[in-house]
Amino acid sequence: MTTLVTGATRGIGRAIVERLAAHERVIGVYRHSAEAARALSQALPRLELFACDLASSEATDQLLTTLRAQQVRFTGVVLNAGIAEHGGFVRPRQASSQEHASSQEHASSQEHASSQEHASSQEHAVPRDARPLAAERFAMGQASSQEHASSQERAAAGQAATEQPAAGHPSASTAEPSAAHDPLLYQLRSNLEAPLYLLRGLLEAELVANHASVVVVSSNLTRHAVFGKVAYAAAKAGLEAAVRQLCVELGPRGVRINAVAPGIIRTDMTAGQGARALEAYARETPLGRVGEASDVAQVVELFLGPAAAYVTGQVLDVDGGWGAR
Ligand SMILES: NC(=O)c1ccc[n+]([C@@H]2O[C@H](COP(=O)([O-])OP(=O)(O)OC[C@H]3O[C@@H](n4cnc5c(N)ncnc54)[C@H](OP(=O)(O)O)[C@@H]3O)[C@@H](O)[C@H]2O)c1
Repeated sequence: MTTLVTGATRGIGRAIVERLAAHERVIGVYRHSAEAARALSQALPRLELFACDLASSEATDQLLTTLRAQQVRFTGVVLNAGIAEHGGFVRPRQASSQEHASSQEHASSQEHASSQEHASSQEHAVPRDARPLAAERFAMGQASSQEHASSQERAAAGQAATEQPAAGHPSASTAEPSAAHDPLLYQLRSNLEAPLYLLRGLLEAELVANHASVVVVSSNLTRHAVFGKVAYAAAKAGLEAAVRQLCVELGPRGVRINAVAPGIIRTDMTAGQGARALEAYARETPLGRVGEASDVAQVVELFLGPAAAYVTGQVLDVDGGWGAR
């Protein structure tokens, strides 16, 4: 049994990895949280971590090449990595892409504080980074200082970028940098294109075993409207549509595919919301609390395992009943 988990170092992905790696081999992918990766790989001997920005098709291709060389056959694939940015669909005029391309003044935009903090990072210059995989370095406990610095910058940026969105949706704390950052395109790429590109690559490279189970992490915002989440919700809705379509293509191979759709879960992604917003969300939730990463991880494990052997093409909310009201 070997399961691939993306977004493995933090939040929901980390909780999934901790459950699975207790009894099987897990290959995890993260972007640049190098410190968390080092600590996790030391704590979990069955876990092997690869640094790869899945929003970069070049980096994903490199990852696939590395996995092919290992002759791994995944019995489980968890497409969990994602980002959430908060902001209106129509950007403030001063943050338009034209202005952005003409100079670096984007960095002074108040509305794009999160992009601003990240823009200083050389790692995120255009074209998007296709950095070499760090698996070998982790095996030797030698994550580079560049990765280390990047992780620290991101942590600082995440703190500085917190916004105050209403209860019911993730905050912008994981906004991703780029010299030409477009929150619409970047969220569609990270949350929709990237997982599909990776999954297709895994299938084409025959890295997915017969009778494997694929689990996609979506969001219950695909069916509930809130301000500031157009790109995020559209991307996740696209993923859910892909899950339904793919069950037809993958079924004859014996491969199942399902999605979980969490509500508000206590992770870095929602850390910027503040206690009051989370309490308000908990009051609106029939089960009376915000979700924990372990709540989602348990359902993912169920979909991966034999208890769901006759379930495919489904999306299951894991939101304490918030969406059922
Ligand atoms: N938290 C919630 O309330 C909530 C609600 C509904 C749905 N979700 C979904 O659940 C999933 C996990 O969310 P979370 O709250 O656990 O998020 P999180 O705490 O912010 O962790 C995100 C993980 O994804 C990785 N990641 C992000 N972009 C990546 C990329 N381009 N390439 C490779 N790895 C990437 C991150 O790696 P680095 O650490 O290296 O950046 C990190 O390990 C996401 O798909 C999210 O949309 C979350």
